Amino acid sequence: MNTRNKVRVFVFVKSIAMSLLMLAVCCQSAEELKSEQYFVEGYQLYTTNCSNCHQVDGKGMLNLYPPISGSQTLSDKALLACIIKNGMRDTILVNGRKFSRPMPPNAKLSDIEVAEIVTYVTVKWGKDSIYTKIEAVRSSLANCKKY
Ligand code: HEC
Repeated sequence: MNTRNKVRVFVFVKSIAMSLLMLAVCCQSAEELKSEQYFVEGYQLYTTNCSNCHQVDGKGMLNLYPPISGSQTLSDKALLACIIKNGMRDTILVNGRKFSRPMPPNAKLSDIEVAEIVTYVTVKWGKDSIYTKIEAVRSSLANCKKY
């Protein structure tokens, strides 16, 4: 290969490498951006719809309202989405304490709003680091069991 062709090959390989790099940078930050957006909007929705009972710190109140932070429910996002949308009427143990008051439904919340609240609580108090997708929430909501 003469020098001129070597340069051509080098430029070609370099441009592919650059494109791959740009793709990685662009898409990773798009996901991060979406996670931040869901988290912030989820925070606002939590403040309006949930913190009255579960409190701003997610620790609940006495034996009236169960804690969300530290709760098992955070690892079952399908159940979480259903509780947010449909409320709950059961007797449950959360972090070793018993609760039996009903939680009212939130029928007016859209699928994306439910996804944003799920994102907020699972990132804030659970082990998640990225947002919960609206498609996942939609299929969870289609399969909720009734309480
Ligand atoms: C009017 C008070 C009230 C509001 C508002 C409310 N909850 Fe609840 N929530 C309850 C009660 C009471 C229970 C226990 C229900 C039972 O025992 O069946 C509960 C249960 C839960 C549970 C399951 C138990 C646990 O702690 O893991 C989750 C998760 C939850 N709520 C999340 C939310 C979220 C998120 C919102 C906002 C969209 C919300 N709740 C709004 C009162 C409320």
